[in-house]
Amino acid sequence: MAGVSVDEAMRRAVELAARGLGTTSPNPVVGCVLLDADGHVVGEGFHAYAGGPHAEIVALAQAGERARGGTAVVTLEPCDHTGRTGPCSLALVQAGVARVVIAVPDPNPVAAGGAATLRAAGLQVDLGVRRAEAEAGNVAWLTSMRRGWPYVIWKYAATLDGRSAAADGTSMWITSEAARMDVHALRGTVDAVVAGVGTVLADDPRLTSRNLRDGSLAIRQPLRVVVDSAGRTPADARVRDGAARTWIATAAEVGAGPDGRVDLPALLAALHGRGIRAVLLEGGPHLAGAFLAAGLVDKIVAYVAPRLLGAGPTALVDAGVTTIAEAIDVDVVDVTQVGPDLRITALPRKREA
Ligand SMILES: NC(=O)c1ccc[n+]([C@@H]2O[C@H](COP(=O)([O-])OP(=O)(O)OC[C@H]3O[C@@H](n4cnc5c(N)ncnc54)[C@H](OP(=O)(O)O)[C@@H]3O)[C@@H](O)[C@H]2O)c1
Repeated sequence: MAGVSVDEAMRRAVELAARGLGTTSPNPVVGCVLLDADGHVVGEGFHAYAGGPHAEIVALAQAGERARGGTAVVTLEPCDHTGRTGPCSLALVQAGVARVVIAVPDPNPVAAGGAATLRAAGLQVDLGVRRAEAEAGNVAWLTSMRRGWPYVIWKYAATLDGRSAAADGTSMWITSEAARMDVHALRGTVDAVVAGVGTVLADDPRLTSRNLRDGSLAIRQPLRVVVDSAGRTPADARVRDGAARTWIATAAEVGAGPDGRVDLPALLAALHGRGIRAVLLEGGPHLAGAFLAAGLVDKIVAYVAPRLLGAGPTALVDAGVTTIAEAIDVDVVDVTQVGPDLRITALPRKREA
């Protein structure tokens, strides 16, 4: 039987890596495929959770002696340091692997150096195979490691005429159950969910990741963050219910911006310090406006319902735009129908300072 190409093996490794999405932080997602000397797949692995075995170790354990003389195809440069687990570079050398093919170099100064160690031990190392795909799968982690603050996804729900609530303030529910289930799945892929105190006061949301059919909580819950300059979150607010960790981020604790409110870059830096790599910004319109005005949103996920309100608050307020030439342009990267609603995924274009 013919073996698989390195390129094909990397496609599979990227697929495997994605299985760890949402459970590996503060670590990246990583996938690994081991080929024997004839190019047959003898091991597969992915990193499932921080503290658990790395993808290479899982694949090596499967392959056993068959790894000798073979090729390890891995989405991220193997780590070179001893953290909760030993260095993967050493494990690959000891297993007798002859060649390591890597999609993306490790931007983390603590763990980088794996490729150099492998080369020094006489292994052939190739970098950059299917790099764009592997980068896309790890975008939150890579972005946050490179710049020192988390990847921010702004999610909102609106009517076709862009309203996020009715004139009387009611907003539950603008979108369908299918869309809300999709949001709960999205929460399961991030490390923190962020809302403004305005949303907490208006809606008293739980901000947990739940199964909407039976109300059961997902095993892993993102940190709930309320951006609340003066600490107005009520003592009996649902976000304080103990179902998940909660941080009421006040200006006194985080630092205040020029307007006396929570300084958003400082907030993101503090979250990064807590190991948060991906953040879901869930509103409301004022906080989202402040994030966008500061250029702090990396991705937008909009759920647009086929309904009209004609009055009521809009999905976004005060994003620093006063004239059409200043509009924040976005690139739509995906449009998917979720139940009766549309989920639009878009990337704000980086703007000149
Ligand atoms: N459709 C949707 O997707 C969606 C999602 C969420 C909410 N909503 C709706 O939105 C409404 C609430 O939204 P909202 O706009 O009033 O409140 P919000 O955006 O949730 O919170 C705004 C508050 O955040 C606080 N904040 C702290 N630091 C800030 C900063 N740097 N910049 C801006 N704000 C900062 C401010 O209060 P302090 O100055 O006291 O800190 C501010 O008043 C509700 O009606 C809710 O139903 C809709």
